[in-house]
Amino acid sequence: MTQGLFITFEGADGCGKTTQLKLLAEYLQKNGVDVLVTREPGAKGLGEKLRDILLNYDGVVSDRCEAFLFLADRAQHIDTIVAPAVDAGKVVLCDRHIDSTAAYQGYGRGQDIVQINNLNMIATGGRKPDLTIVFDIDAETSLARVGSAKDRMESSGIEFFNRVRDGYLKIAALEPNRIKVLDATKSIDEVQQDVIELINTKLCALKS
Ligand code: TMP
Repeated sequence: MTQGLFITFEGADGCGKTTQLKLLAEYLQKNGVDVLVTREPGAKGLGEKLRDILLNYDGVVSDRCEAFLFLADRAQHIDTIVAPAVDAGKVVLCDRHIDSTAAYQGYGRGQDIVQINNLNMIATGGRKPDLTIVFDIDAETSLARVGSAKDRMESSGIEFFNRVRDGYLKIAALEPNRIKVLDATKSIDEVQQDVIELINTKLCALKS
């Protein structure tokens, strides 16, 4: 059995990570890699219901409640989808994971970052991504790309998205081996080349 790998894609809304994740999945599949594409929140089943509440519920959601709903989705996702796939030798590409909670609920909403990190550890059972790519984008470009049809999270305002961006950069600076930051304002093709370079470097490092 080949070694499984857990790779997460992160960044503010509108950063282009979902497009890049699909392009990478196609690239890896063409090269014979067994890939699983998934996301948080809402990979399937219970997760989809939690995603609907998190993005579309129009009543009051307290900041702590919001954090726990993302974490509940994560626990279910890791236990039922991510861990079994990685342990079976697949390369799992996940659209958002622990660093979203640190950036959005920690830095964005202003919840205690140490507590958020501890809760993330509980939700994941201590499993961390092998590689995380942060698609860095300024808040103005991020919100302009999202456009006018905003969901509950996207409606949090420019100051919130400034804090989210700064949060991602702080998190990345603390874990430079795991987290790599790419300039997401470049063209789709240029960003894709940067992603492939990072992945190939990671795969080479694992082989050596
Ligand atoms: P998506 O549209 O990129 O899938 O992300 C859904 C939204 O949920 C996005 O605005 C980021 C937000 N989010 C958090 O605030 N905390 C989290 O832990 C996760 C996974 C997502």
